Amino acid sequence: AAIAAPPLQTPSVVEVKEIPRISGTNPDENVLDAFRNLIADQIARLAGSDPVFVTSLIEAPRTPDHGDFAIAVPRMRVKGNPAVLAKEYTEKFIPNQYILSASSIGPFMNFKISHSLLNRLLLALISSQKEAFGTNTSGAGKTVVVEYSSPNIAKPFHAGHLRSTIIGNFINNVHVANGWKTITMNYLGDWGKQYAVGYNKYGKEDELEKDPTKHLYDVYVQINADAEADPTIHDAARAYFKQMEDGDEVALALWRKFRDISIIKYQSTYARLNVKFDIYSGESQVAKPMARALALLKEKNLVKDSEGALIMDLNEHKLGTTVIQKQDGAALYMTRDIGAAMERYEKFQFDSMIYVVASQQDLHLKQLFKILELMGFDWAAKCTHINFGLVSGMSTRKGTAVFLEQILEETKTAMHEVMQKNEKKYAQIEDPDTVADIIGISAVKVQDMAARRIRNYDFDWNRMFSFEGDTGPYLQYAHARLCSIERNSAIPINPDADVALLTEPAAEELITMIAQYPDLVKALPASPEPCNVVTYAFKLSHIVSIALEGLWVMGQEKKLAEARLLMYWAARITLGNAMRLIGLTPLERM
Ligand code: ARG
Repeated sequence: AAIAAPPLQTPSVVEVKEIPRISGTNPDENVLDAFRNLIADQIARLAGSDPVFVTSLIEAPRTPDHGDFAIAVPRMRVKGNPAVLAKEYTEKFIPNQYILSASSIGPFMNFKISHSLLNRLLLALISSQKEAFGTNTSGAGKTVVVEYSSPNIAKPFHAGHLRSTIIGNFINNVHVANGWKTITMNYLGDWGKQYAVGYNKYGKEDELEKDPTKHLYDVYVQINADAEADPTIHDAARAYFKQMEDGDEVALALWRKFRDISIIKYQSTYARLNVKFDIYSGESQVAKPMARALALLKEKNLVKDSEGALIMDLNEHKLGTTVIQKQDGAALYMTRDIGAAMERYEKFQFDSMIYVVASQQDLHLKQLFKILELMGFDWAAKCTHINFGLVSGMSTRKGTAVFLEQILEETKTAMHEVMQKNEKKYAQIEDPDTVADIIGISAVKVQDMAARRIRNYDFDWNRMFSFEGDTGPYLQYAHARLCSIERNSAIPINPDADVALLTEPAAEELITMIAQYPDLVKALPASPEPCNVVTYAFKLSHIVSIALEGLWVMGQEKKLAEARLLMYWAARITLGNAMRLIGLTPLERM
């Protein structure tokens, strides 16, 4: 099956009636695929190569004046002199209404496309897809489990959890945009001895209700201080935890209350960050599969005794050893993770499972995946760890931060102060508190995603809030500015505007950039770097601002004004989609 091509407008070329279908491409979702398929189809025929392979070789030419697409003949791995072949293929290439010309420079083949046709196809696609522009169906029928955030109840929510939340949400959005079914899971650190002893001594019902995260943390700090002086507190904690493990209802009731109340609090904080989980799981929830995991490990002779404890020796795989069961019979973090993974596969039969966890746990996750493999689970190969580096200095401006809420509140206040400096604009904002919160969160997120994940960074209050440079507030500003152009233009968006009028270099550059967005989205599952999207959003914003200098909507003759307005509208939709992909809420005014 092939899709119909629009009718020929320039009679000087051979008319193509159908776009060739090439596996892995979809011209209905990505207009560049139509152009690339028409190049690859002919070149593959001329060279006797596989069109899928040739498609994968199409790239941007060395410089834009060489054309729109290029292929380096040496990469085609055909016999013969590449420069001679490049000349031969391009001379035999028959131009059509999409690909206007082919030429060669040395071993390179360069192709020029019809920009008026690109404009028409692209703006028609965006007009019909809007918020869905950029998405594709490459993951249709596949399921991914994305485990992220996973803080520990009654302990600080630290920078590592914040990064996992921001990046994990991005990973989920990426899979949704690529047509996957996703299951988002928060695997809470909700089982351990940190709970009750302190609460029985220092806990206050009303404070727990008011702010559970903070109260549980305060209690945690107090009891830890006590334990410095009085080590018997540790024994009491262990004894209490033993009661929990033995299923003592009284001990469990208190723990359950902390868990429930903490989840409610987390949910509202996550909502501020556009984050939502399908499942709140946690270490406490996997007792049964963990017991099965242990039995299986023993049955398969994978564990060995070491002074009464059970360990797994992974030295053969250069992964050291790991304890599976302590002398006293207690299970560990690893044991639970093994059980949890088994249960998730049984439940969801996932095609991929992603753990978004700081790079400090690289070894833990390598061990986990190896153990699953040794247990004979072929799905172990479907598990991946998406890691990230450290953040230093994530403290509030006043002191050390331990709660996400604290960071978000301070961010909002600081952003509010910046906004108030521009009195006139500030007066026009309907709900400044919400806007300050959204820009503040954009600042935090963009700072986090601006560089490759593995890089460490310093939490920098001053840089993060700047409206200049590569910051979250700048992206929001760029989006709001495009919205204001739509408001001020006084003409409606016309999806049938004559976009062939968009011929200036700045317009061509902007439209080309917009056209590349679906390629970016499609490449993300295999290379999940949020900075690729952040970089794209900044580039797009810069190109928009260059275009806006010369290509006005106001004061132009109606047809031209309509065409430009439609182009800026498409830029706004695309920028908004990129911002949503990284978890931001694009603002219309600020
Ligand atoms: N709660 C853990 C921590 O704060 C992170 C959990 C990561 N996920 C996992 N399946 N081990 O360190």
